[in-house]
Amino acid sequence: MQIRNALTQSAEQLNQLMQADFPDQTHDALAEQLESLSKLHNKIDALQTSQKNIANRLGKEIRNASKQIEAFISVENYFNTGNLPSVSSESHAWPISPDLSLFLIEMLESEHYDLIIEFGSGYSTLLIARVLQQQLLRSPDKPQPYQIAFEHLEHYHEKTRKQLELHQLHDKVNVIHTPLKKWKSEDDNVYPYYSCVSALRKVKKTLGSSPRKILVLVDGPPGSTGKHARYPALPIINSIFPQQAIDYVLDDYIREDEKEITKLWLEYLERHSRKVSVQERKLEKDVCVIRVDAAA
Ligand SMILES: C[S@@+](CC[C@H](N)C(=O)[O-])C[C@H]1O[C@@H](n2cnc3c(N)ncnc32)[C@H](O)[C@@H]1O
Repeated sequence: MQIRNALTQSAEQLNQLMQADFPDQTHDALAEQLESLSKLHNKIDALQTSQKNIANRLGKEIRNASKQIEAFISVENYFNTGNLPSVSSESHAWPISPDLSLFLIEMLESEHYDLIIEFGSGYSTLLIARVLQQQLLRSPDKPQPYQIAFEHLEHYHEKTRKQLELHQLHDKVNVIHTPLKKWKSEDDNVYPYYSCVSALRKVKKTLGSSPRKILVLVDGPPGSTGKHARYPALPIINSIFPQQAIDYVLDDYIREDEKEITKLWLEYLERHSRKVSVQERKLEKDVCVIRVDAAA
């Protein structure tokens, strides 16, 4: 772009000089220079076009390779388990990405959570349930975490439920269908958010002295529901569990909105004197993990 601008500027200057009253020889030399500049311009245009074509081609090849790998894994999985793929027909935009799936598995394997809360259900709900099932088979005496997920769209609530049913895990997860309702923040901003408070208070009562450690996956509602759509998650959870150690996993941290939400969360946690550490992970859609220590 800089070269193109420099060439355009030079051509303008040459054009101005051509207006001057120079001898014919000088005029001819200037015209030659102008023609060379125009040729250079065309070459740069052609280079940029081929650069775009290569990038498009590469993008297509990569998408196709990913599709083939996913399909291959799904076919193998079908022969191993008899289950059809749960997300292969979906675009990568909605379900959590495979690299976040692996990251979550690592978190679940390295840390014992008493309660797992999810905002925005789907593939992630099934993934967590399957990890917990594996852990139960490995250590049947270890206490199982309580898993709860909130979903605002009936269609996706039904879809998540069916996927859990297919894996016989439907009675292990409490998937709640709740439309988005107005929620007011401490500074009087209103957000549409999952109506989750009473369900979470009930869970808290059921768990008694636990939970000591909570995992919250914030992957909903979609950004289209409003600015800072996912902001309410942390203040709501913090008001219900003001003492507990909580790991918040915020998906889609690649987006500006999620970066702003994190800033607002950190300001909120400072106001509430909660000690935190923040970890940003470069994944397909990036993720931010905010670890809140148990209150002293
Ligand atoms: C980012 S998605 C949540 C995805 C979920 N955590 C998962 O791993 O599958 C947020 C919400 O978008 C909605 N949603 C899911 N898939 C969608 C799609 N293909 N088109 C439009 N909305 C979708 C659902 O209501 C979902 O809870």
